[in-house]
Amino acid sequence: MLSPLRHNMRVIPFFERLSLDTHANNTTKTYSLSKRLSAIDNAVGEHFHHVWDCCCDHGYLGRQLLERGAAPHIHFVDIVPNIIKQLETVLAGVNATQSQFHIYCQDVAKLPLDKFNQDDKHLIVIAGVGGDLTLQIVEQLLTDHPDKPLEFILCPLRQQYVLRSQLARRGLRLIDEQLIKDDKLFYEIIHLTTGEGEAIEGVGSKMWHNPNQWHVQHLQIVLAHFKRMANNPANNVDSAIASYQQLLAKLS
Ligand SMILES: C[S@@+](CC[C@H](N)C(=O)[O-])C[C@H]1O[C@@H](n2cnc3c(N)ncnc32)[C@H](O)[C@@H]1O
Repeated sequence: MLSPLRHNMRVIPFFERLSLDTHANNTTKTYSLSKRLSAIDNAVGEHFHHVWDCCCDHGYLGRQLLERGAAPHIHFVDIVPNIIKQLETVLAGVNATQSQFHIYCQDVAKLPLDKFNQDDKHLIVIAGVGGDLTLQIVEQLLTDHPDKPLEFILCPLRQQYVLRSQLARRGLRLIDEQLIKDDKLFYEIIHLTTGEGEAIEGVGSKMWHNPNQWHVQHLQIVLAHFKRMANNPANNVDSAIASYQQLLAKLS
């Protein structure tokens, strides 16, 4: 179900570490994004017509993009009606002068990209869901919009190796990637394009160029995970293990 809602409204979401003080129509707020969402925000350039905060939940990222006027159109998409209902209320107070926002309650795999000009530039951000779901969504979008130039910023929970490997097979290219440590957890942020870019490596590439101690720590965690998976012969993880081991040897 597609439900485009109001545009150019004033917003107030329940930001991470948000402190909110509301007085009738006059709302003030202070907030700070998590390191992970800040890193994603910083990776969003200003040359897109549309930025899609997919699987938006609380909408923290989209709100930040809206407030800094990152693109003329900021889209919020989640599949859960209650989340969208809450978000409508929250977004109803935002002061966004440079951007319009649009809210949809629907499956992200079916984004209505065809409703916009063919030449419009779209950035699709999918963060905070599993790599397998991220892969399904991106593959569906690529299948449904084969001629549209698209960029993706992906920050999946787990399954990064399979995600990268499969999207490389689908012809996507790498723009940038980074590893973020946020509150003891590691996150890989992967910026891909249907256009020009570098080859995508299953284990990642640019992310490892300036390694520090916690890059090695993250690598060890990932490798240990793949070794546990190898205990089940049905899992075909030998080449992933070999690639991660090679990388670890290089970084250690
Ligand atoms: C953990 S939240 C992620 C929130 C935010 N993106 C972040 O990174 O902090 C995951 C959200 O994905 C939504 N979701 C899961 N599958 C979806 C789909 N196929 N289409 C749209 N939303 C989906 C869920 O409803 C949930 O609100």
